[in-house]
Amino acid sequence: MKANKTIKRAVALAMACAATSATADVEVLHWWTSGGEAAALNVLKQDLESKGIGWLDMPVAGGGGEQAMTVLRARVTAGNAPTAVQMLGFDILDWAEQGALANLNDLAAQEGWDEVVPAALQQFAKHDGQWISAPVNVHTTNWVWANKAVLDSVGVSEPKNWNEFVAALEKVKASGKIALAHGGQAWQDATIFDGVALSAGGPAWYKRAIVQLDPAALGGSEMLETFKRMEVLRGYVDENFSGRDWNLASAMVINGEAAFQIMGDWAKGEFLNAGKTPGSDFLCFRVPGSGGSVSFNSDQFAMFKVTGQAAEEQVVMASAVMSPKFQSAFNVVKGSVPARTDVPDTDFDDCGKKGMRELAAAASSGNMVGSMAHGHANPAAVKNAMYDVITAHFNGEYDAATAVQEIVTAVEVAR
Ligand code: BGC
Repeated sequence: MKANKTIKRAVALAMACAATSATADVEVLHWWTSGGEAAALNVLKQDLESKGIGWLDMPVAGGGGEQAMTVLRARVTAGNAPTAVQMLGFDILDWAEQGALANLNDLAAQEGWDEVVPAALQQFAKHDGQWISAPVNVHTTNWVWANKAVLDSVGVSEPKNWNEFVAALEKVKASGKIALAHGGQAWQDATIFDGVALSAGGPAWYKRAIVQLDPAALGGSEMLETFKRMEVLRGYVDENFSGRDWNLASAMVINGEAAFQIMGDWAKGEFLNAGKTPGSDFLCFRVPGSGGSVSFNSDQFAMFKVTGQAAEEQVVMASAVMSPKFQSAFNVVKGSVPARTDVPDTDFDDCGKKGMRELAAAASSGNMVGSMAHGHANPAAVKNAMYDVITAHFNGEYDAATAVQEIVTAVEVAR
């Protein structure tokens, strides 16, 4: 009863604010700072504004949200949690475990979230049977983005398997262009690793090794092959790759300076923001060898426990984020796909339609795995342990065989 009243009050608040054009502000902590991300964020800001909710921006750049999570910890420790926070997978569960997140059950029940949010997402949006966040999208990380004109100029078409991919990289390199645009940051190295691991070991092995952390699988021949493939890729990045932001790597493909980028589908947001069209200007395909599988992550808005008007605004924001119309409008721009199964693909471009098809197929075949790089395979301690080994190996500190041993040991220590 009481909760129903809160929802009603929240909606009434939205309407009253809209009517008077007074704005109550939600403070939102997020890491959507690139051009494409900002465009998507604007869809959300405008949607909230139309409901009378103003926006207090708290951007902290850095894919995977590591820096954002550091800022968040400081804010919560100071007793000053933001209203809503962009969060990934195990980080959400971690905060829920600490009792820091608000309970969205009444809104979820009223709007039927249980029926439309896929189980793989509910696993991170619910804790002890309580909805504690609102999923805004599903990204998948095992994608390659390619400049079509560059490929045409060297006579390369979409590679269908790993060997064809390596041959294509080689041809581009021989032409004097950069074959693989990459930014040497731990989370980006790890993002490449998601797709390469799926390609080298397949989804069943990925689940055993990366998600379940079975030491035999972690230290198996598939892991060796994964690191060997990472080494091959390392041979195709330019010498200035170190520290480069992911969106600058995307820009290199967009501008025709480079042929390929391996990156989650937020990269598509950059291509679209630059006015490019899938199919004619750029290609999107799965990391060769990983077709049929997807490594996913879902951006969710976790709501911290607050009281009074801020709590009412949280309900309005969560409801706005979960609306099917919004999920379409937002994800069309963001590069991701909706976090609900009942949103039509009508407004999505060819890459988006393909993404939705492939996600649904992978979900029903059991080949949808949580992205290690983006916090959907393990809690932060294990993720960071993996990051360290992957990055050290990519930078030549270990050979592939040593990296296999190191990842087994690092995970053992971290878990
Ligand atoms: C998030 C995306 C974001 C990307 C790069 C990922 O962790 O899920 O929404 O676009 O990082 O910032």
